[in-house]
Amino acid sequence: MSEEHGTLIKTPKQLIVVSVLALVVPVAVALLGSQLVTGSKRIDASEDRKAVEQRIKPVGELVKMEGAPSPAPVAAAAAAAPAKAKSGEEIYNAACAACHSTGAAGAPKTGDKAAWAPRIAQGAATLYDHAIKGFKGMPPKGGSTASDDEIKAAVDFQVAKSK
Ligand code: HEC
Repeated sequence: MSEEHGTLIKTPKQLIVVSVLALVVPVAVALLGSQLVTGSKRIDASEDRKAVEQRIKPVGELVKMEGAPSPAPVAAAAAAAPAKAKSGEEIYNAACAACHSTGAAGAPKTGDKAAWAPRIAQGAATLYDHAIKGFKGMPPKGGSTASDDEIKAAVDFQVAKSK
């Protein structure tokens, strides 16, 4: 009697069969279950393909309008621009602002009237000359490759802002 209490597995063969079943049955159930779930989803997706595409399409669309100007002339204008002399403001922003908008290296800040008044009093010719040839802490042309006329325009821009 007491021997029959323990286990149903009595032989090595039974042990193997039970072990194999213990592995195979859960896997089979999982596979069937996933087939059931993904299988039905797949049908939905193919049926509603149009609806899905509608949902995920980009917000904006590019519409080519009849008679709209083509972008080519704009690109051509942009390419032609560098040949033209830059304005004083452009030169200032590119070559002078680094020092003169921050006061770096002791540069008189553009817009600081008190700092500029005595410099402006020297006359435009002196300011041009100093800006072109360099002056104390300032490298010639602010270290740029701008033309003399462009530097003069930048000085004019700077002075106009600092009067
Ligand atoms: C590396 C910094 C730096 C850059 C870049 C720079 N400057 Fe200056 N600038 C200075 C300093 C510093 C002074 C003041 C020098 C002094 O009086 O000690 C000065 C002074 C000047 C003066 C006054 C000169 C005078 O006679 O009092 C003018 C005008 C001027 N800069 C124009 C320009 C222009 C235009 C540019 C751009 C093309 C430029 N600077 C770029 C540092 C700079």
